[in-house]
Amino acid sequence: MCPPTESLPAPIKVLQPKHKFLIGALSLSTISFLVATIVLAATNKSNSSSEASNAASSAAAVSASVDFLTSKASSNFFATSDEDNFCAGAKLAFDNKLCADLEVPTPQAGANVTKGYVGDLDVGDLVPNTKPYWQSSMCPVNVHWHLGSEHYSVGQYDETGNGPNGNIPRPEWANRDLSGTDSNATEGENQVQDGFRCLHYDPNDAKFTTPYNWQHCEGMEVGETYEVHWPHSTAGAYPFYDGVFCNLTLETFSTLGAQDIANAVGVHGQVFTIVNDESYFYPDMIRGMIVDKEMGKDIHIYTGSTTGDKVSNEMCSLYAPITWQVDRKCHMISASSFDKMCYDMKMQRDDMSDDLHAHGSRELVNDDLAANNQYYPGSVRRNLRS
Ligand SMILES: *[C@@H]1O[C@H](CO)[C@@H](O)[C@H](O)[C@H]1NC(C)=O
Ligand SMILES: *[C@@H]1O[C@H](CO)[C@@H](O)[C@H](O)[C@H]1NC(C)=O
Ligand SMILES: *[C@@H]1O[C@H](CO)[C@@H](O)[C@H](O)[C@H]1NC(C)=O
Repeated sequence: MCPPTESLPAPIKVLQPKHKFLIGALSLSTISFLVATIVLAATNKSNSSSEASNAASSAAAVSASVDFLTSKASSNFFATSDEDNFCAGAKLAFDNKLCADLEVPTPQAGANVTKGYVGDLDVGDLVPNTKPYWQSSMCPVNVHWHLGSEHYSVGQYDETGNGPNGNIPRPEWANRDLSGTDSNATEGENQVQDGFRCLHYDPNDAKFTTPYNWQHCEGMEVGETYEVHWPHSTAGAYPFYDGVFCNLTLETFSTLGAQDIANAVGVHGQVFTIVNDESYFYPDMIRGMIVDKEMGKDIHIYTGSTTGDKVSNEMCSLYAPITWQVDRKCHMISASSFDKMCYDMKMQRDDMSDDLHAHGSRELVNDDLAANNQYYPGSVRRNLRS
């Protein structure tokens, strides 16, 4: 069982008087506030239990008018001194390295996840963790996303997709004819490096073009494609630490066997086009890939590394080999779903303020740096490696 993500009462809007479930909503919110208060009491030994219950009842009385983000700022429960959260700032403990300088290249992510794709980097007997992460006691430790997709899935998110800011071309190393591709992507001064777009975008359909009044996410745009990553790890003692390798120095990391790492650390990847349409609302994006109807069904599994625009086909991430489970399909999702996730992120004990906007995407992993252990359930390759 993963520890629950921290939560405070639902956003104020569900408590509006016109809401027909006002009573139910209020008592639910009271209960969750009580839970939060009990946890607060448990973590702060100086709180007597009567203080705690006083706090709970007065908190319930004002629950309809409290600005919870303000209360987070002043709450002991969320205090993050280095003592409380020794992972603060420990996102990446060691630097990336020139791939050419590595004796044995580390398999990189995000690669081509099209069905049938197999990388050229022979990783021997190394296999990805093909089970649902919870079955290996792996819990989500972070969520963040990239502008455009880092991964590449033919006909889903590739150079033929589009969005309000265009797309990027097929990489030259992947050969073939680039003519006719719109390569006018958004690489301005204040922009992050972007990735591939999905094929859903239609500039004549209002749901892709109507601006959304974002309350919690930063710099996001309706119609755009984002690739969301949920790193999971067995190592996290608390939910939502600052990343997969929190507390792991390069020294410790190096003592772990490659297979141990691939078994214990994994990332969910899922790609979305944002629409301004509430019929695409999913309330719970913070805890992992969405699995519902077509979502989370067609999964590509392989071993790779951490990603981001600091790594490339020249500069390799040494945080490898970790498991990747990536949804090959691109899905539409409402802007409000992302905004709800950003709200939930602000509620975490960990300071996730650096992750409320899209990060840059790395260039597509060259075949030479992509592992050859893609897992295809039911295919010959499955038995090849097990
Ligand atoms: C991705 O893999 C598919 C299937 O192997 C292949 O057809 C396609 O050309 C690849 N795309 C790139 C950019 O390498
Ligand atoms: C891309 O930008 C160039 C110059 O900024 C412009 O001439 C060209 O028409 C643009 N291409 C597309 C497909 O928008
Ligand atoms: C992380 O490191 C600190 C200090 O070295 C140690 O006290 C703590 O137990 C470690 N936590 C985990 C989860 O490994």
